[in-house]
Amino acid sequence: MLNTQDGLDVYKRLVRYYYNGFLNFVLNDEDISALTWSKQQELLQSIVHCSLIKKYPVNNEFSRLYFKKLISCLEKAGQEVHDELYIGLCNIMNNTSDNDLFRYRHHIIGNDFNNIITIKETKNMVVNGTTGMRTWEAAFMLVDWALCNQDVFRDKTVFELGSGVGFTGIVISKFCKPREIILSDCHDDVLKMISDNIEINFPNMTVKEVNNCKSFVNEKHCLGTMNLDWNDNNMENIALKKPPDIIIGADIVYDPSLLLPLCNVIQDFLQSNNNIEIYIASVIRNEATFETFLSILDTKGLTYHKLQQEESVFVEWDNTIQRCLLKIKMLS
Ligand SMILES: C[S@@+](CC[C@H](N)C(=O)[O-])C[C@H]1O[C@@H](n2cnc3c(N)ncnc32)[C@H](O)[C@@H]1O
Repeated sequence: MLNTQDGLDVYKRLVRYYYNGFLNFVLNDEDISALTWSKQQELLQSIVHCSLIKKYPVNNEFSRLYFKKLISCLEKAGQEVHDELYIGLCNIMNNTSDNDLFRYRHHIIGNDFNNIITIKETKNMVVNGTTGMRTWEAAFMLVDWALCNQDVFRDKTVFELGSGVGFTGIVISKFCKPREIILSDCHDDVLKMISDNIEINFPNMTVKEVNNCKSFVNEKHCLGTMNLDWNDNNMENIALKKPPDIIIGADIVYDPSLLLPLCNVIQDFLQSNNNIEIYIASVIRNEATFETFLSILDTKGLTYHKLQQEESVFVEWDNTIQRCLLKIKMLS
């Protein structure tokens, strides 16, 4: 299990919280004593002086609250506070150039600080009429499952439905060695954000744009973006040379009016190749909506089973929420 609380060095935990934009952390007496002047110096090195954070800063308001909370925990426990923490807080408070709409989050994969995925996204759940401008919990679940089952994706062509900012597709491309992965969505701002995030995480790729599709290629990775609206689905509009081997989707089962169009897309793909494996991760906010989705799959002759996923392994997700990871196939 991913150990982000006990046992993990408080310095690493605090870096992880800062990178992730997580503020509800708790520091116990042992953590505070471990935060000596030199540990605080090390922390400052990673959260203030680090080139990644300088290039892709975390949200200014979050940063202010994080520094305030950390300083207050240290002060309350009588631990000496590093001067640069106070200076850092003043600098943050004087920084008026912050763009409140976007923020960067840095996801450390499997506690390995060499494996960081940086995602540009918004804080808000809905922006310009789309939910696709931030990463949702089901994306973390699906990514974690993919990282635990990398062989499923190796050398396969993968197509993602409703990709949002692109976290899932980017992680799978980086770590699971698919031959190719296409990230699709229906909203222009979301597709632009996916491209930005691909460029951040895969710099110096060769980029090509044809019709509504962009491709990013280097010697190891091949990613694409595609505008696909489930409401105007027509397989002829989907510019793929061949049907994919695998389809994935995170948090795409939520809007009752989209369930039928989504299932139609799934069915069309399966009719073009009945061996496609489909993995859909959902947070179940409304049981009736999710049951309707399952019953539409039934009526279309699609079979599914629920995959078990107990706890976080490589990336953190909340295992207390009601959730479901489905594998869908054509009835044989
Ligand atoms: C809740 S977000 C999930 C985003 C991402 N998969 C994640 O988990 O972070 C739902 C996504 O579905 C996309 N979406 C909504 N309606 C759609 C449609 N008709 N066709 C294609 N994508 C759609 C949204 O733009 C958004 O990116």
